[in-house]
Amino acid sequence: MTEDLMPHLAVLGATSATGRHLLGRLTAIGSVAALTRQAPPETADSTVRWLQGDATDVGSVFSAIKDADVVITMVAASRMAEPGTVRSDATRALLAALAQSGADSHLVAVSALGGHGSADQLSRAARWIYRRVVGADRLAEVDRQEELIRSSGIPATIVRPPRLDDRPASGYQEVTGKASSSLRLHREDLADCLADLATNPPPTALRFLTIASV
Ligand SMILES: NC(=O)c1ccc[n+]([C@@H]2O[C@H](COP(=O)([O-])OP(=O)(O)OC[C@H]3O[C@@H](n4cnc5c(N)ncnc54)[C@H](OP(=O)(O)O)[C@@H]3O)[C@@H](O)[C@H]2O)c1
Repeated sequence: MTEDLMPHLAVLGATSATGRHLLGRLTAIGSVAALTRQAPPETADSTVRWLQGDATDVGSVFSAIKDADVVITMVAASRMAEPGTVRSDATRALLAALAQSGADSHLVAVSALGGHGSADQLSRAARWIYRRVVGADRLAEVDRQEELIRSSGIPATIVRPPRLDDRPASGYQEVTGKASSSLRLHREDLADCLADLATNPPPTALRFLTIASV
């Protein structure tokens, strides 16, 4: 495939634990732009075009996504940090940047299982466990993110992982029925899922995917 025919892929939250697995997969598919608040990681793949900027700043986000066919966002406060409002602020900035670009980019946003949107997928006990383990403030941010995307009307893909871990890839599957609170998703499997979404045709309407490792 010539460079012109290769898809342009933009990643926000590329320095995340999942991002480290994802970038290599994406550079095999197309040209990749990645936004980070810090200097690019020293081990960074030289084929990735790193841009420095905050994911809550519309101008920085715009420069990363302006000609992207697919935009993947994993921006959120890490589990160690206070949840704050970075997930929703970054989503708002991204939606503004997408509107500004006018490109028909496929937005793939990683949220989380356990918010209001996935309540029907969880038993009452599982909802209680998620609220306790993840925390109400962090789940409120998931709700805000999903609502922002829903009300934008964009036919995006929202991926809702259960608890992530760093075990080796074992394959992933979509969970269509009830999701147990013991479900886990290995970050390598999440990266595989996101790379597959980047190559598959985009959806025509907003869709939610709950995925777990096999
Ligand atoms: N951990 C779990 O069990 C779990 C469960 C369900 C869903 N998820 C979600 O799955 C995704 C991937 O998880 P992960 O554990 O791989 O993520 P992670 O390592 O916690 O990485 C979070 C990313 O967000 C970025 N970020 C935070 N604040 C930012 C800001 N103001 N501007 C720019 N970037 C900012 C971080 O960049 P810096 O390097 O600059 O800090 C980092 O790249 C996340 O959205 C996470 O919330 C996680």
